[in-house]
Amino acid sequence: MKRIFPVFFFFVAVDLHAQPTHQLWLSNGKAIPVTVECSRNSSTLAIAREELQNGWQGKPGALVKLVIKKDKALKSDGFRLSENMIEASTDAGILYGVYDLLRRQRTGENLEGEVDNPSFSVRLLDHWDNLNGTVERGYAGNSIFWRKVDPFVITDADKKLWQEYARANASIGINGSVLNNVNASPQILTADYLARVKAIAEVLRPYGIKAYLSVNFASPIAIGGLKTADPLDPSVIVWWKNKIKEIYSIVPDLGGFVVKASSEGQPGPQQYGRSHTDGANMLADGLKPYGGIVMWRAFVYAANDNDRAKQAYSEFVPLDGKFRDNVIIQVKNGPVDFQPREPFSPLFGAMKKTPVMPEFQITQEYLGHSVYLVFLSTMWEECLRSDTYQQGAGSTVARCTDGSIYPQKYTAIAGVSNIGLDTNWCGYLFAQANWYAFGRLAWNDTLNSSKIADEWLKLTFYNDTSRNSEKKNNWTSSFLVPVRQMMLDSREVAVNFMMPLGLHHIMSANGHYGPGPWWAPKKMRADWTPPYYHQAGIDGIGFDRTTKGSDAVSQYHEPLASKFNNPAECPEEYLLWFHHLPWNYKMKNGRILWDALCYRFDGGVRQVREFQKIWDKALPFVDSVRFTEVQRKLAEQCANAILWKDACLLYFQQFSRMPIPYDIDRPVHNLDDMIRSDFTLHSN
Ligand code: GCU
Repeated sequence: MKRIFPVFFFFVAVDLHAQPTHQLWLSNGKAIPVTVECSRNSSTLAIAREELQNGWQGKPGALVKLVIKKDKALKSDGFRLSENMIEASTDAGILYGVYDLLRRQRTGENLEGEVDNPSFSVRLLDHWDNLNGTVERGYAGNSIFWRKVDPFVITDADKKLWQEYARANASIGINGSVLNNVNASPQILTADYLARVKAIAEVLRPYGIKAYLSVNFASPIAIGGLKTADPLDPSVIVWWKNKIKEIYSIVPDLGGFVVKASSEGQPGPQQYGRSHTDGANMLADGLKPYGGIVMWRAFVYAANDNDRAKQAYSEFVPLDGKFRDNVIIQVKNGPVDFQPREPFSPLFGAMKKTPVMPEFQITQEYLGHSVYLVFLSTMWEECLRSDTYQQGAGSTVARCTDGSIYPQKYTAIAGVSNIGLDTNWCGYLFAQANWYAFGRLAWNDTLNSSKIADEWLKLTFYNDTSRNSEKKNNWTSSFLVPVRQMMLDSREVAVNFMMPLGLHHIMSANGHYGPGPWWAPKKMRADWTPPYYHQAGIDGIGFDRTTKGSDAVSQYHEPLASKFNNPAECPEEYLLWFHHLPWNYKMKNGRILWDALCYRFDGGVRQVREFQKIWDKALPFVDSVRFTEVQRKLAEQCANAILWKDACLLYFQQFSRMPIPYDIDRPVHNLDDMIRSDFTLHSN
């Protein structure tokens, strides 16, 4: 076959230098001279000073003072900025102030002299990294922390990479890293692995980042030689106490533990007839003397007939108020599992005496891996701004978790990392924007996605144009504005071509990439198969979660419960999440449901094709390496979007028995072929 190269490649190759994607949003540009003054010294302050000297873009020869002082207005990581001064009550606060100042200089944002305090006190990346170096649901290469070969050798290259990672995180306000998978190997708590944890923690520490560990609840059996892991058994309690003491003698500032227990086959207290409270509190008591916290995950659902979307709420709400004050319940944004769109988890609005923290997924498990361009900021913003009505109107998920509604000793937020050994860290240039956005929202949960996209684009691409003044003038109108809009639309576009109108969990089996609405092997747990969720039949489609169905609607406060319960009032984006409706159900715009579904899937495909045009027009503003990468990924996304549309429309058409509207392009795949090929689709 003849290979076709994009012709423009050759023009740009001479025009723009290739930009290394490893540097993320951090500048390696030329700094302007600056003098930095600070009365104190520490490794963190040394980094702060160095960053200012290497990145200063302000007045030449300026003097900048770094001032540590007690100030009631400044929370521990907060800072106050003015043109020549950064004030904070901690060294880490100074460092965050420095990064903020440099960001403002590079994006041209004014200094307002205001105090900037973080929304959450603990801002975490959760790495689902296995000790053999693989990354669960990772699409950017192997782990940056663990490896199979020479697992305990710590090289200079390891340290350099961890340091670059720490710097990137600190630059966006992240202050904690969970170093291993929630499906935790008990081995993490053995001496050799703890020695490596110590080495990682030492590199992260000057950047204000604490290490955290995921622990396996059955560790006392697996590595302690005990016969039980029953949290009320005295020998188990003593084992954890001693183990925690040992851990803190190695890593004195460990942040604490994340625990996935009694969930998806992981061991937990329930197998001993104990509750989540018994399990979490036992660990919390062990961690308390060292200031450690337990992040106990609410991602639980049993293999029974109860609607999976209801189960976390049902299990945890009766336990409200029974947890120790150093336990936080970690809740995924939606009630099922990081789907392209879910309503917010009702647990956010339910717990009144126990702190709850949001868990977002930065890695794109259900959103096209590292192939699709999906700016997740809008999805997280949607969740954070959702009103739970917990204390009346205005009780958003953000306010229910950041301590605004109830005073909380700890507030936290976690993002499941999309980072691996790939040179560009995330497997895709645009996936870096999601790492960036998570950090920014964790710092300030009221930021809007447009501002975040704006910042990221300026920090990531602006240098490309600075050599050519004509291009610089066009940069905003011809690059920033359209590409920003593409980012802001991208999540809705993905929802449209994958799971529109409230459909969810209809992806192909284990890989979670590509469509699979038919997938339901015999003997498979029903709630792991798509037909459980879409419920398509001759009579209609959708999961009935109304008061007449599973009654999941009643887990929401009024007026939401009534609104979700009534199909005429339910927001259309959640329609088939809450309702099972006939194919000829009349939508708000007068279309019947079947037609509306067809247009949504088709609209999604068309929008990705528009993205291809937007990107092609970005050619003059991007170096050839990054331009070509995005161009190729968009082509792949487009092909996959067509597959989604064809698969879902042809599969559901068997039940709707209606034609695909004739102004929609006909499928280019056959259903039986798609089912047969089983979607062992490429995804890197
Ligand atoms: C999803 C994901 C798993 C992960 C789990 C979790 O189900 O597919 O790989 O372990 O979430 O969050 O614990």
